[in-house]
Amino acid sequence: MEDNNLTAGFRVAILGATGAVGTELIELLETRNFPVSQLKLLASPRSAGSYLPFKGKQLQVEVVDDHSFEDVDLVLASAGGSTSKVWAEKAVASGAVFIDNSSAFRLDPQIPLIVPEVNPQAAAQHRGIIANPNCTTILMAVAVWPLYQLQPIKRIVVATYQSASGAGARAMEEVKTQSQDILNGKSPTPEIFPYPLAFNLFPHNSPLNDQGYCEEEMKMVNETRKIFGVTELRVSATCVRVPVLRAHSEAINLEFVEPLPVATAREALAKANGVKLVEDWQANYFPMPVEATGRDEVLVGRIRQDISHPCGLELWLSGDQIRKGAALNAVQIAELLVKQNLLQPTAAVS
Ligand code: A2P
Repeated sequence: MEDNNLTAGFRVAILGATGAVGTELIELLETRNFPVSQLKLLASPRSAGSYLPFKGKQLQVEVVDDHSFEDVDLVLASAGGSTSKVWAEKAVASGAVFIDNSSAFRLDPQIPLIVPEVNPQAAAQHRGIIANPNCTTILMAVAVWPLYQLQPIKRIVVATYQSASGAGARAMEEVKTQSQDILNGKSPTPEIFPYPLAFNLFPHNSPLNDQGYCEEEMKMVNETRKIFGVTELRVSATCVRVPVLRAHSEAINLEFVEPLPVATAREALAKANGVKLVEDWQANYFPMPVEATGRDEVLVGRIRQDISHPCGLELWLSGDQIRKGAALNAVQIAELLVKQNLLQPTAAVS
């Protein structure tokens, strides 16, 4: 085993390091050159003894326990809400800042919910825990906020096309196995998902409320309001799981207070942070999940006038759910903390 001490910087722990988002977090800390003095990889007993690479070293994965956060400045957590609820307060009590990718704390009024392109100022209010929004919400917020800046929006109606990666690494494997089974004439066996996803799609299977909306849809409603700081914003979402391995897509209808010309919207999105405009109307070429995969930017295109409403615009996006929809956004929040002097570096550990 190699030791996990590196150079001067922050002592970072990744909770859920072996998952789809966790492994992306490790890669992003390396490729974005985040100042890490020590990296601790934490997961469940299932991963005890396994190793993951970071900056040319093989780091051993540890099972999270009561002592895991004693020597840590920053925790990037992506191990599910129940795990975050167990460890967040403990990590904060031992002096760490806890950036949480789960839904556990997102709507807590004391806890900032941040998309750095939209509300970076919220970081200054943190008391130890910062929430990373839901993936579909992040992608929509990055694309819609630049337009909201030009003209207030009264109502957003969105339909999502969500890849298997949103349900984790094992869900991605399930779609591959199911596809192979179907092509080999066998019946697909659902394990992570309730129904076969290969060659199929189904409305998002999170719990439904009394109004018939599922949890994933209500995340888009409530989290967008909190991130934009607009409690009266009207949002209605239909979330659908599709047999795409990675990267989500969204069809978004926006109703502005006053008409917003398509050309003005396009110009704003072309220079918006975190957005890449992808439109070739002659070739009928627009954002696609396979092209969004592995990219930092949210791909936005097919911006057009809503023919059913003078104040309406339609747009389409694809964005890497694991990257900007989760891991990248969390690392960008950490970078924001460093920039705003809200995270104190420790001396190099030998
Ligand atoms: P493990 O691999 O040991 O199960 P994904 O979202 O891709 O399914 O990944 C979930 C991540 O959260 C994995 O790293 C998983 O670790 C981790 N995890 C799940 N449950 C726990 C737990 N109770 N304690 C710590 N880590 C957990």
